[in-house]
Amino acid sequence: MPNIYESTKLLDEYLLFHYAADEEILPAGGTASGQGEALQFAVRTVVENVSASPRARALDLGCAVGRSSFELSSFCDEVIGIDYSHAFIAAARQLRDEGAVPYQRLDEGHLRTSLVARRPVGARPERVRFEQGDAVNLRGDIGDFDLVHAANLICRLPDPSRMLARLPSLMRSGGTLVLTTPCTWLGEFTPPENWPTGPTLDWLRFHLDPAFSLETVRDQPFLIRETARKFQWSLAQSSVWTRR
Ligand SMILES: C[S@@+](CC[C@H](N)C(=O)[O-])C[C@H]1O[C@@H](n2cnc3c(N)ncnc32)[C@H](O)[C@@H]1O
Repeated sequence: MPNIYESTKLLDEYLLFHYAADEEILPAGGTASGQGEALQFAVRTVVENVSASPRARALDLGCAVGRSSFELSSFCDEVIGIDYSHAFIAAARQLRDEGAVPYQRLDEGHLRTSLVARRPVGARPERVRFEQGDAVNLRGDIGDFDLVHAANLICRLPDPSRMLARLPSLMRSGGTLVLTTPCTWLGEFTPPENWPTGPTLDWLRFHLDPAFSLETVRDQPFLIRETARKFQWSLAQSSVWTRR
């Protein structure tokens, strides 16, 4: 099956999701519809879950087109963003190197609007490296990290418990782990035998104890615009853990 995250449709949707101004996604930025709080998810998974105290090394697994990696670069000395999609990583690198990527927003049918994704103000591009790779099979010399951020990745992996098993050796003592997931377990990504048998949070605890202590759990809504009149509204469960 072709990887949907290599398609132009998803690339355009994710550039919009990560970089568009609120008004480019919803009329009046969602203030009238009450949907505004679901915007800027790739920023909020960083700023609402992690204090901006200086850190040395951060890893953004499943970084897509890179917005959270740029957010991390404002307070981390080195950020590695990894995604399986070549198309997403090419766009993230272009944003880092050139500061902008043009894309098309689908409005309806044949109607599209030309927009430009821009590297966010405050990002430190010289601190960020984007790599195409597999979160479950990281290169051996990647080292260890003070912060690992994996937003909405686990329920897109064929065997997510393998990634969880790798986390203790990937993180330095006292390091922060941010996992968010809308718990949308789907057979097309994860065979049902690899889904949690109970609530996802219990399953995370089972896999991460005792190497990690759970600090906070919160709901973080997000909105992905498909067309001017069709949106996916989802509620991610975000958990923050400390490496013991
Ligand atoms: C639902 S998206 C979330 C993207 C981004 N973190 C966000 O919150 O907007 C899942 C991402 O995980 C990536 N992905 C899927 N399998 C992966 C793997 N094995 N290793 C690294 N990235 C993967 C996809 O290409 C996609 O960018």
